[in-house]
Amino acid sequence: MLEDLEQIHRSASNEAASLPDETALEDFRVRYLGKKGALTSAAAQMKDLAPADRPAFGQKLNEIRSAISAAIEERRASLLAARDARAARGIDPTLPARSLPQGSLHPLSQVLDRAVDTLRRMGFALAEGPEIETEWHCFDALNTPPDHPARKESDTYYFPGGNLLRTHTSTVQIRTMESASSLPVRIIAPGTAFRRDEIDETHSISFTQLEGLFVDREVGLADLKGTLEAFFQVIFGSGTEVRFRPHFFPFTEPSFEIDVKLKTVGRAERWVEIAGCGLVDPAVFAAVCQSRGDDLFHPDRVTGFAFGMGVDRLAMIQYGIPDLRLFNENDVRFLRQFA
Ligand code: DAH
Repeated sequence: MLEDLEQIHRSASNEAASLPDETALEDFRVRYLGKKGALTSAAAQMKDLAPADRPAFGQKLNEIRSAISAAIEERRASLLAARDARAARGIDPTLPARSLPQGSLHPLSQVLDRAVDTLRRMGFALAEGPEIETEWHCFDALNTPPDHPARKESDTYYFPGGNLLRTHTSTVQIRTMESASSLPVRIIAPGTAFRRDEIDETHSISFTQLEGLFVDREVGLADLKGTLEAFFQVIFGSGTEVRFRPHFFPFTEPSFEIDVKLKTVGRAERWVEIAGCGLVDPAVFAAVCQSRGDDLFHPDRVTGFAFGMGVDRLAMIQYGIPDLRLFNENDVRFLRQFA
């Protein structure tokens, strides 16, 4: 009887090592270890043995069962390894991976991010306001009278009922002061502005502006100049010359346009206009007091400076881009250059 077991063991061991695939392996397992398998039938014969012989037989049976199980697992592992090796044939795992297409920020976002970042480090906090505005926030509170040309139907998109698409981000100056709880107020407001314009290289119906406002008890021209000169040194490089040219804006007095001197290789040096700014007109503070109903911003108590610039223009100058429309056409051949 023990001899029968040995026989089973031998033939199982021979067969296991040459099973060709998973199906044959499973069939083998059933034939030897299954309910009607060879080992199970052998075990059934135990009752025919003399009681003294049974323990040795039982022990042998167990040994062989685990040996066959182990042989099955071993064969399964080597079949798997062979399958992996077949799948990997012709593949060189040391080659670098294929790179995935990677997006990047739009050039306007890059320029805006840098400008915002620079001003935030100088102590300005981010503020925002709605793109659909009231005439009050866009014009009246900014000391822009009803007959001002900027308010004409031909320059501004009005909604029925009198609201409008803001023509500049200066609206956020008013909204910020209306809701401020204390001084100082030191904010920047990036955002979209809208104008009824013929679209060409330098005009668009919507564009991005960056507004700034600083109000406290004794803010003066020196603060304005120091802040903006430092800002443009960061944006255009240290040593960049900046000049303040007297101008007119309804909401600042005095007002200036800021020019920076551009030195482009192969071109004559030239001044280009880059921003508007000035000291906040007392009439603006008076309007804020009127809508707040208190005198936190009373023109006798506070002074401030404001500035505003077109981010598209900033980007055009920084990158030497001749046509504003390129920013909105989403031509990847253009955009890829800024990736
Ligand atoms: N709002 C002006 C515009 O859209 C730009 C501007 C000029 C903003 C002077 C200011 C400022 O805050 O002080 O043309």
